[in-house]
Amino acid sequence: MHAIGIDIGGTKIAGALVDASGTIIRSDRVPTEATDPREIEDAVVAMIEGLVAGEQVIAAGVAAAGFIDAEQSTVHYAPNINWRNEPFRSKLEARLDLPILIENDANAAGWAEFRFGAGRPFHDMVMLTIGTGVGGAIVAGDRLFRGGFGAAAELGHLRLVPNGLPCGCGAHGCIEQYGSGRALLRIANEYADAGGVGLGLAAARSRKGKLTGKEVGRLILAGDGGALAALRQLGGALGQACASLGAVLDPQVFVFGGGVAAAGDLLLEPIRTAFLEHLPARGYHPEPEFVIAQLVNDAGVVGAADLARHSVTQ
Ligand code: BGC
Ligand code: NA
Ligand code: ZN
Repeated sequence: MHAIGIDIGGTKIAGALVDASGTIIRSDRVPTEATDPREIEDAVVAMIEGLVAGEQVIAAGVAAAGFIDAEQSTVHYAPNINWRNEPFRSKLEARLDLPILIENDANAAGWAEFRFGAGRPFHDMVMLTIGTGVGGAIVAGDRLFRGGFGAAAELGHLRLVPNGLPCGCGAHGCIEQYGSGRALLRIANEYADAGGVGLGLAAARSRKGKLTGKEVGRLILAGDGGALAALRQLGGALGQACASLGAVLDPQVFVFGGGVAAAGDLLLEPIRTAFLEHLPARGYHPEPEFVIAQLVNDAGVVGAADLARHSVTQ
């Protein structure tokens, strides 16, 4: 029997019908600017109905970018979407004849990488998703770590800078403000303002009216000095955070996903350097691997489907 995975992102909703081996049978995708919970709910219902049509489906997992409760039914808080104590599961189950599971988006992506992607050879893994926000997933001893209230692995809100930039979560100085795709844009704009190595970014900005993630990504791959410097700054922040995470979790591997991970080794290199610089007991601590996610855009839907399947078959 198949399961359905849905991934609600900042700019799109993706969905897929997934088999037990993590293979996508059919997929769907709609752009959304929607931040209104009701609009998102309608879009998710329509997508699940479309994917179910004519198939035997056991359950659906819905990955959402926020703090989820231990029952995996309510989105308590979403820093970048307008969800506050949203009882998403009961709303969806009232409209669909299917068991529904709500999962944190990064947990879903991390689980997919652990089961079917870059995390397969390991037992202890940390995943960071570098997109609009910074998402986190922890696999400890082959299990997804959820904490006491369900909202563990909100790694984007690890504090990096005391009294630092305000974050969508209400706190200050979170790694999300220094290591996300949005942070990369902010840093790239700072380089563009400063001139010098940022001249290429400044030129792109005046050509397009504003810098976009896509444009900065293009400049990174084209070897533009300013774009690369911005990426190194981002990687430096992420690497510091990984050193702290290493002290707590001691993973065998750090996996990086999300849009910014398309930069590949250009992202991993400054992360690894900063990690080693800040690692407690450096030289006496085995060094984990740093790798890019393999399932990339499909990780959220594949992981959500697999977790939903496990929740009804175990
Ligand atoms: C949210 C997380 C989410 C991450 C990536 C963060 O701002 O707090 O729940 O996993 O963004 O979307
Ligand atoms: Na998470
Ligand atoms: Zn935060």
